[in-house]
Amino acid sequence: MSDNIGLVILAAGAGTRLKMDVPKPLAPMCNQKLVSFPVQAAFDFLKETKCSGHVGLVLGHGREIVESYLDETFSNPEFPVRKAHQVEQNGTADAVRAYLKDVDDHKKTDVTFILCADTPVISKEELMTLYSTLKEGGYEAVAATFETADPTGYGRILKGGKGFRIVEEKDASDEQRKVNEVNSGLYAIKTSYLLDRISKVDSNNKSGEFYLTDIFSEDAKVAPVLFPDERIFIGVNDLAQLQRAERNLRWKHMRSLRDEGVRFIDLSHTYVDPSVDIGAGTVVYPNVFLEGKTTVGKNCVIEPGSIIRDSILEDEVEIKAYSHLEQAVVRKAAGIGPYGRLRPGTDVGSESKIGNFVEVKKAVLEKGVKVSHLSYVGDAEIGENTNIGCGFITCNYDGAQKYKTKIGKDSFIGSDTQMIAPVELGEGCYVASGSTINQDMPAGSFGIARAKQVTKENMAKRFIKTKS
Ligand code: UD1
Ligand code: CA
Repeated sequence: MSDNIGLVILAAGAGTRLKMDVPKPLAPMCNQKLVSFPVQAAFDFLKETKCSGHVGLVLGHGREIVESYLDETFSNPEFPVRKAHQVEQNGTADAVRAYLKDVDDHKKTDVTFILCADTPVISKEELMTLYSTLKEGGYEAVAATFETADPTGYGRILKGGKGFRIVEEKDASDEQRKVNEVNSGLYAIKTSYLLDRISKVDSNNKSGEFYLTDIFSEDAKVAPVLFPDERIFIGVNDLAQLQRAERNLRWKHMRSLRDEGVRFIDLSHTYVDPSVDIGAGTVVYPNVFLEGKTTVGKNCVIEPGSIIRDSILEDEVEIKAYSHLEQAVVRKAAGIGPYGRLRPGTDVGSESKIGNFVEVKKAVLEKGVKVSHLSYVGDAEIGENTNIGCGFITCNYDGAQKYKTKIGKDSFIGSDTQMIAPVELGEGCYVASGSTINQDMPAGSFGIARAKQVTKENMAKRFIKTKS
């Protein structure tokens, strides 16, 4: 396959029906933005087919912010990205005309794909199917279609002659509206055919817009390609569709993870972003959110109510119920929670344990460290096999600056102790319970820093208030 291919993403619309104060391409979608999904699908397609080509973006509403989001997200694109400006949104054919006008690279292409910025579940698979149908069938153009019980809002597929045409909802007769094979807005078109047809598109229709769908007709060798699963093609025009599209994206991803060996106790109540990878043998309970750039290793267990964002879990990690992790690393066979909180910059060593109600921030815990109960560990380094008792606090902040606590390996820190940072303890230290440590301790030393106990016999009655 040595075609040169342009994949054009139409993203100039405002998306007023979403009632958001951002342009539609920047609507939230599984912790990314709507527009990033078709862009990624286009890249994936070029990569997979080894075709040369480019990705074209037609921008209009909120052009500057959409552009800067894309530049940031795809800062080092694998293929050239060319941008076009559609000044007024006069319809999908007008958007494609803006692309043809602004992007000279289209002249190099043999085939042009059109994708909409608002159909995020489509991936390279659908693009490949469409492409092979176009080539093998010798068609001028093909459109991805699906059947749906409620075709409201979609263009209807009307077959006839050599090809087919599409009638938009607004322009359809009652009879035509009953057709439930609809247009997904995804097309693969020979560029020569597109150039010829698009020049003839007019705006003689109910909306007065230039419809790209008018390039299809009964007298041309064009075909609808019916896909079996409508969930892939959901278009996001309102908040109900946005929610369904997010669900469909996660569902599609979780199903493929499941097929690779991940066990979901209840997939329909689990929320795994498409950007998250999970190894085989891992069990994920319901009401778990795995978000952003998170990877989970093999044979882990993630219990209910946990939220894990932009974090790395190595193999055999156990996250107990209601834990919250953000930009954290948890190494092999470590355990967190229940109710563990790992904040950015946390690195929990292999076989370490972070117990209930423990908060860790910007801290490196080596192998086999235990912080089992009710503690705050911030700006710290804790050496191998050190045990931290209950109610431990790093006093890391003086109201202006943050300071570091270092504790060497094989140490034992008693319960209810505070480390007034900056402070450093060598290896094999022992700190007595109830101590407030503000001086460094050399390796092997014992530290105790608490008021001496005073016991006065028979004096309790002075303090015990008796009911008269
Ligand atoms: C379009 C199709 C319809 C199909 C549906 C699938 C047309 C005329 N209709 O309808 O047959 O069933 O998609 O979801 O094509 N856009 C621009 N500039 C414009 C207008 C639109 O860039 O001037 C972009 C939008 O940002 C959006 C995409 O094109 O990403 C589709 O536009 P939209 O208005 O959502 O079209 P639909 O009414 O959904
Ligand atoms: Ca749409």
